[in-house]
Amino acid sequence: MNALQSGVIEPARRHRDFLGVTQPMIGAAEQQEVLAVLQSGWVVAGPRVGRLEHELSSYLGAEHIRALSSCTAGLLLALRLAGVKRDDEVLLPANTFVACANVVEHTGARPVLVDCDPATGLIDLDQADAMVGPRTRALMPVHLGGRPLDMDALADLRDRHQLTVVEDAAHAIGARWGGRCIGAHGNLVSFSFHASKNITTVEGGALVVRSVEEAARVERLAVQGLSRSSWSRHGRSGPADYDVVEPGFKLRMSDVAAAIGIHQLPRLEGWLARREALARRYDELLAGLPLESPPSLPAHARHARHLYTVKVAADAPSDRDEVIRRLADHNIGTSVHFQGIHRQSFFRERYGLNDRDLPHATDWALRSLSLPLHPGVSDGDQDDVVGALAEALEGPLA
Ligand SMILES: Cc1ncc(COP(=O)(O)O)c(C=O)c1O
Repeated sequence: MNALQSGVIEPARRHRDFLGVTQPMIGAAEQQEVLAVLQSGWVVAGPRVGRLEHELSSYLGAEHIRALSSCTAGLLLALRLAGVKRDDEVLLPANTFVACANVVEHTGARPVLVDCDPATGLIDLDQADAMVGPRTRALMPVHLGGRPLDMDALADLRDRHQLTVVEDAAHAIGARWGGRCIGAHGNLVSFSFHASKNITTVEGGALVVRSVEEAARVERLAVQGLSRSSWSRHGRSGPADYDVVEPGFKLRMSDVAAAIGIHQLPRLEGWLARREALARRYDELLAGLPLESPPSLPAHARHARHLYTVKVAADAPSDRDEVIRRLADHNIGTSVHFQGIHRQSFFRERYGLNDRDLPHATDWALRSLSLPLHPGVSDGDQDDVVGALAEALEGPLA
């Protein structure tokens, strides 16, 4: 008898509207603040960006942080700070979003892909350790789905090999390790506030840096290399009053985006609690199904619960793609985190990679799926997901 037939799980109902894997939570306070910015006459980086940076700094326990146009922007500038250049190598997981490999490629360095831990999907730090070579300049690990990496093992690897660590914390605002937030472990750390993330500025991100000098350089590099921001020039000396000491980009956050962010941050802890409750409920409800779930974390750590990802068992009656199709038929969205950098044409062809080179990341790409998880998911929504998933995996109720 399967979980459906035993009555542990409700039979599948078609969800009334499409239920997405993620959904931005933008309320009245955000809308009013955006309107106030639009009416203020100053819409680009200015006082709201400064306030968001200040509040992020105290939430994370990280002294120096700069708000940018995306997490990708933060990763790119972090590689600049790390001095990564042509012919260097940067170690990063194969099981991540392509942003990580793209930014390395743009520096002229070589992205060197590391396989993942088959149980968690996170970068295998032992393998990364073994892959450090004379050209390795930086390591870019990812707190996949909001699950924090083992920060003690990471610090040990960093210090033994004298590497710069650029943490990709796109999914991980609110995650903790050993009582400290991800973002406060002494590395360069890039967060995403894209509309799909735990908090949003629609598009946006922030980079934690290690000193006041690095923060000043990030500010410069984010605005064409100018020695002074337009806000600091505003109302004082004329626009010619700046110098360019190195060529920069155009990657600063706007005050319109920051206006949203300053009303998201105070709600984050409440949202994390709801995400945690939903994740635990999924753990309970899915326990009898042919799925593999990641192990729990040590008690001192906290998962930011950005994603709820499971792997369809290799011997399940339906494969992962069939499960995705069946859930879509029930109006339930899913996603794959991730397809594998080594499986994208550009990287596969440029570096001569194939699926067998990174077997665990390939397995993750073929068998994993992420289920709806955000504070807008009700218990009833979740019952619909679980019912549809059980039916997709075990066949309809006889
Ligand atoms: C792991 C990871 N890194 C980086 C990014 C890039 O974030 P952004 O869109 O803010 O540049 C994403 C986006 O989804 C991501 O999932």
